[in-house]
Amino acid sequence: MNASSRPIRFFHRGEIHAVTDLPTTTTVLQYLREQARCTGTKEGCAEGDCGACTVLVGELGADGRLALRNVNACIQFLPTLDGQALFTVEDLGGAQALNPVQQALVDCHGSQCGFCTPGFAMSLQACYEQHCEAGTRPDRQQLADALAGNLCRCTGYRPILDAGQRMFELPRQRLGLGAAAAALQALRAQDADQPLHYEAASPAFGGRVDRFDAPRSLEAFAALREAQPEARLQAGATDIGLWVNKQFRDVGDLLYIGAVDELREIRPEPLDDGRPGLWIGAAASLEAAWGALTEAVPTLRELWLRFASPPVRQAGTLGGNIANGSPIGDGAPALIALEAQIVLRRGAAQRRLPLQDFYLDYMKNALQAGEFVEALHLPLPAPAVQLRGYKISKRYDSDISALCAVLSLEQRDGQVVAARFAFGGMAAIVKRAAAAEAAVLGRPWSEATARAAAAALAQDFKPMTDLRASADYRLRVAQNLFTRFWLETRPDAPLAAAQASVWQAAAHGSAAAS
Ligand code: FAD
Ligand code: FES
Ligand code: FES
Repeated sequence: MNASSRPIRFFHRGEIHAVTDLPTTTTVLQYLREQARCTGTKEGCAEGDCGACTVLVGELGADGRLALRNVNACIQFLPTLDGQALFTVEDLGGAQALNPVQQALVDCHGSQCGFCTPGFAMSLQACYEQHCEAGTRPDRQQLADALAGNLCRCTGYRPILDAGQRMFELPRQRLGLGAAAAALQALRAQDADQPLHYEAASPAFGGRVDRFDAPRSLEAFAALREAQPEARLQAGATDIGLWVNKQFRDVGDLLYIGAVDELREIRPEPLDDGRPGLWIGAAASLEAAWGALTEAVPTLRELWLRFASPPVRQAGTLGGNIANGSPIGDGAPALIALEAQIVLRRGAAQRRLPLQDFYLDYMKNALQAGEFVEALHLPLPAPAVQLRGYKISKRYDSDISALCAVLSLEQRDGQVVAARFAFGGMAAIVKRAAAAEAAVLGRPWSEATARAAAAALAQDFKPMTDLRASADYRLRVAQNLFTRFWLETRPDAPLAAAQASVWQAAAHGSAAAS
């Protein structure tokens, strides 16, 4: 190990562990099963989909308390644990004394083959800790949403949802976080001026030594980014993790953005033209970013809950979604419809672009060498703006979109004065539907105007056919979404979003009813 390199240090099973010789892309799951022999955490898909590998990561807040996140250990690289605490199913209780989550799963027959159960137990524990902390209790829908990242092929979910309610009826017993918090405080003092610079040989690539750097300040991050433009910038690794696990791609040296607090900030921030705005740091988690967006625009709630799953949203970042630039990404349609600007930085120099100008072609964007996405900055929509987000995918929960539409329009004196119709899944990049927008401007918003926009959409997009949807289906559904948009926003009896989301009722009605 190079002299400047230091071990990865984190808390697990009652003590601080120091790792010095595992490859930089060793996943937390591989470490648990192959090094720590904690085999309670299972591997199902190795791609963040099934939740069998769910663990809890505890981060020490400024208040000295641990904030817990449930994440997928299979796509979490071990160096990102540095300075954090790791809790696994072995921490929940023992064979002699089951904890409330485990006892509730037993009482409600929430497990059959048991393969998914450790993952469910960890997601339930995250929900349990969150609601015990807040003094609240989740309703059945909130439990279903909290478990959207965990798949079970045996139980049919009802008994697991029952267990999610029962666990609050048992004598309260929370995870012991005190020892971990104290150990991390001591570790923080020890490593105060030693941001992680970790080097290790990578047997998969001929023993080459790879670096993992986790600077802690924006300035240090920007300087490293400029000095090492060839290093792969890594945020939540919910895209990168699959490149390693599924495509066996060589990601080389990694520059980790997740330790830079300034880049995780979300705050009110007026735009240059004085409009009130929202600043979302590129390293803000998807969960925090979508939460802030939905607070500003409540009609984005369904898009938030259907973006990936809670563990992926806890690990992934909005900056990563935007920078990755998948044409079926769900972040860009919402942000483009919201007139977001992307803030790019290289060293101390900052520049801005309308997000719609950031995408140049399929998976190609306007980032220059040494640059990175610093933030997304968007105006808070005026009260007269009506905006709806629609995600069309095969599965209601945790599925990649076949198409995603975010439609926004503003009316004044009975006429449409502004329209922003952004679509993902309809072209090589996420983009606005210019012809459809032109078809509504200057007209009263009516069913006829909505139909005109739908007809004009055929000029905007020639969608493709792939495993998620046919070209014909994509265009037809996209056109029908204008009718839905009209029904939800018409001035007389607007269809309430909850009713409109027939999927939610169907998908979770069973959860609510049973
Ligand atoms: P990473 O994987 O860390 O990085 C992704 C790319 O962005 C890399 O090229 C990286 O170098 C680059 N990058 C990251 N941050 C920056 C930055 N600040 N500046 C410059 N470059 C940067 N996506 C959706 O849109 N909708 C979904 O419903 C959805 N569901 C998913 C479900 C599962 C099970 C999984 C595993 C993924 C899903 N995703 C989905 C994809 C992924 O979660 C998102 O794209 C996520 O936002 C990526 O963020 P990240 O922080 O994990 O990025
Ligand atoms: Fe399936 Fe990690 S193994 S989500
Ligand atoms: Fe078998 Fe859930 S109990 S997969």
